[in-house]
Amino acid sequence: MAVRYETPVIKLAIERKLVTPVQHQQCRELVRKSRRIGLNTSIEEILIKQGFITREQIEELTEISRLGETGDLFAGYRLQKLIGKGGMGKVYSAVHEFTNRKVAIKILNYSYTKDETNVARFFQEVRALAKLNHPGIVTLYDAGKGGRRYYFAMELVEGPSLDQYVREKKRLPENQALAITKAAAEALGYAHKKNTIHRDIKPENIIIDDSNVVKVTDFGVVMHTDDDHLTLTREGYMVGSVHFASPEQVEGKRDIDGRSDIYSLGATLYFMLTGRTVYSGKNAQDILIKHVAGTWISPRRYNKNISIGTVRIIRKMMVKNRDKRYGTMEAVIDAINGNSKLMRVVVIILKIAIILTLVGVGIGAELFFKAGSLLLNMN
Ligand SMILES: Nc1ncnc2c1ncn2[C@@H]1O[C@H](COP(=O)(O)OP(=O)(O)O)[C@@H](O)[C@H]1O
Ligand SMILES: [Mg+2]
Repeated sequence: MAVRYETPVIKLAIERKLVTPVQHQQCRELVRKSRRIGLNTSIEEILIKQGFITREQIEELTEISRLGETGDLFAGYRLQKLIGKGGMGKVYSAVHEFTNRKVAIKILNYSYTKDETNVARFFQEVRALAKLNHPGIVTLYDAGKGGRRYYFAMELVEGPSLDQYVREKKRLPENQALAITKAAAEALGYAHKKNTIHRDIKPENIIIDDSNVVKVTDFGVVMHTDDDHLTLTREGYMVGSVHFASPEQVEGKRDIDGRSDIYSLGATLYFMLTGRTVYSGKNAQDILIKHVAGTWISPRRYNKNISIGTVRIIRKMMVKNRDKRYGTMEAVIDAINGNSKLMRVVVIILKIAIILTLVGVGIGAELFFKAGSLLLNMN
């Protein structure tokens, strides 16, 4: 006989084997008993109290079943786990029913759909991803509406965001931080050539997959420099994130270009190497002012191992006057390549110096012992 489930959440919990049928049965019994004594406890509450499932799991399943048109099926995708929460919506891992492809699906909150600017922003993001085809940028698979909600499905990147990654490791070795910066610069340089400025480059929007490939995501506030209609920045209204925004973004300039992403990527490199943001302050305003007029503390203050060459690169990426910054992502990549070559040459010179010193010490010691034994013989 088919089992009847109290709620869609319970059905999902059992289908996903978070709760066993035996546990379910036990809790049903408890619900009945509690009713008899006049209590109206839900089966979900009892499952939580019994320790069979956590409150977070119930909340996640509640959300999924609310979104799903049938159970966890939303627009042809089986929603699996909530993997990210953002300003306008939520990102889930999911499986496409027809093709079995694993995806990340971003679903816009219904309440946001009522505001035209948010919907336009959603389209801005989808259209940016649709025209960008690069291994360093998440690939768009599909977009549309599921019920009343807009969504888009993209390549699922299985790995932490750079923010989580750095926080876990405290800070990254210079070589690795430069390699990540170079990979992100390649992806962004490509986007810039396609007239697309990201405008929200920060560690949370860079994901590292399980084979260490760097992927840029979240084109939510992207600017299409070839399409005036899609540029949503109002005069004096800043987009981007407090810690990584360029001075020109803070000032609300409209003619933002690729150099703004260069500044934000420089701030991201600073974060990778030190585990700290370039500026801190009492409040957002305080930090924003520092991007425009503050003096930075050299990253070497926090990490003595950073080479002077790398400090120079970050400084030039983050010059407040954008005319004095690197002009393009290619220039950033060249500087990093030149720096690594320089570092390699310095390492080789150091190695040679050490070998010569050791050889010198060896010869010296041999002469010393020879002289010593000569003296002894003479005596
Ligand atoms: N394609 C993806 N694969 C894996 N995780 C993703 C993907 N896209 C987004 N995420 C996760 O979801 C979070 C929020 O997504 P994001 O696109 O940055 O939205 P928001 O504009 O809300 O910040 C990201 O920080 C990341 O952890
Ligand atoms: Mg984001």
